[in-house]
Amino acid sequence: MHHFYYKDSELYVEDVPVRSLVERYGTPLYVYSAQTIIDHYTRFDHALEAVDHLICYAVKANSNQWILKQLVNLGSGFDLVSGGELYRVLRVGADPQKCTFAGVGKTQSEIEEAIKAGIYSFIVESEEELYQIDKIAARLSVKAPVAFRINPDVPALTHAKITTGTDLNKFGISFCQVEDILEKSLKLPNVFLKGVQIHIGSQIQSVEPFLLAIQRVIPLVEKMKKRFGAEFFDIGGGIGIVYDKALESGEHAWWQERNELLTLNRYANAIIPLIKPLGMKILVEPGRVLVGNAGILVSQVIYVKKGVSKKFVIVDAAMNDLVRPAFYEAYHQILPLKEQPNRHLEVVDVVGPVCESSDYLALDRRLPEFRSGEYLAVLSAGAYGFSMASNYNSRLRPAEVLIQGNQIQLIRKRESYSDLVTLEE
Ligand code: LLP
Repeated sequence: MHHFYYKDSELYVEDVPVRSLVERYGTPLYVYSAQTIIDHYTRFDHALEAVDHLICYAVKANSNQWILKQLVNLGSGFDLVSGGELYRVLRVGADPQKCTFAGVGKTQSEIEEAIKAGIYSFIVESEEELYQIDKIAARLSVKAPVAFRINPDVPALTHAKITTGTDLNKFGISFCQVEDILEKSLKLPNVFLKGVQIHIGSQIQSVEPFLLAIQRVIPLVEKMKKRFGAEFFDIGGGIGIVYDKALESGEHAWWQERNELLTLNRYANAIIPLIKPLGMKILVEPGRVLVGNAGILVSQVIYVKKGVSKKFVIVDAAMNDLVRPAFYEAYHQILPLKEQPNRHLEVVDVVGPVCESSDYLALDRRLPEFRSGEYLAVLSAGAYGFSMASNYNSRLRPAEVLIQGNQIQLIRKRESYSDLVTLEE
């Protein structure tokens, strides 16, 4: 569910016509709905009511401080993977005791910063990292909390580039090596075991991979609790969202839940019977499912070009603004800001100005005819949209606005040419 809909043929976000935002802030423009984030967080929180739990939002999905602030206000914790993310969440008043720090390549300074901040737990991904944390904790005269990320070696049934839980991936400690490393960790004076974590991939659209992964590690998790005092089991993120038909053209109602879809309730109802008997604190690390459908990328058509075998709608947003189509062949629904029911449909590529053939937002897409100067919205761009944006081709990254009801807040200004070169002075 989200808060983008057509009224009188105009696309709205909450109570605001998107067109008015474009007139004020230009394009390309990321537009977020605060209420959508609040709704998703609250639903997830309720869905997990039966267990002692903590939602740790995966900051990488969208790390704008104002989005993070919304989540702080909701009581969220945070899943961090860099010193930069730690810096961001502390700046907006996050409770460090609700923060975990994962990632295969934590540097010495990042480990030191996280220990000094007093995070809830490191999520350790290798033996060498464990020794490094122990060494730095000794230097700081503390005992650092660690959890082991177990790689359960299960297929996530998602895109190869976002699969993380098999032995071919760099993540976590292989299932068969965990006990050995655990034994070694017990001999280290400056770390103590706090928990266990798994995360098998992203945009997972059925509950089976989650169940399989949890079932596989549960005996080990129980052992780590009973023998070594682990207090939490972190089951990662990865819940998929709807990208196609997130909003049916011409439909005035909000997106309807489909039966086969992995909803937050279906996810929770399936996993709770497995994890509740553990009697442990359960952590989840959702990113996409909290913010993905809460954002759109609005763009203006610059030219329409009829080639010999294809028609191209050339827009002012490109792969540097939203890399998902180029990187993962990802599908994002595209809609006109103004509904044009009488326009005929045609098959086009929607492409950006970047000098790469992979610079597209949609390929061979059946869309109502677009004319230059008109605007379109790329839906479900709230997760891994701006956070993966770059300045490639020396393009300026888009502005971002956050809407709540009729309140409009510019949460990131459009970059300027001087921003491109300041650090090179
Ligand atoms: N926890 C860990 C350890 C992760 O690595 C990730 C995502 C998450 C949680 C959150 O996963 P989510 O709930 O958002 O699926 N750029 C890709 C997605 C990469 C995901 C990386 N890790 C995309 O645009 O599809």
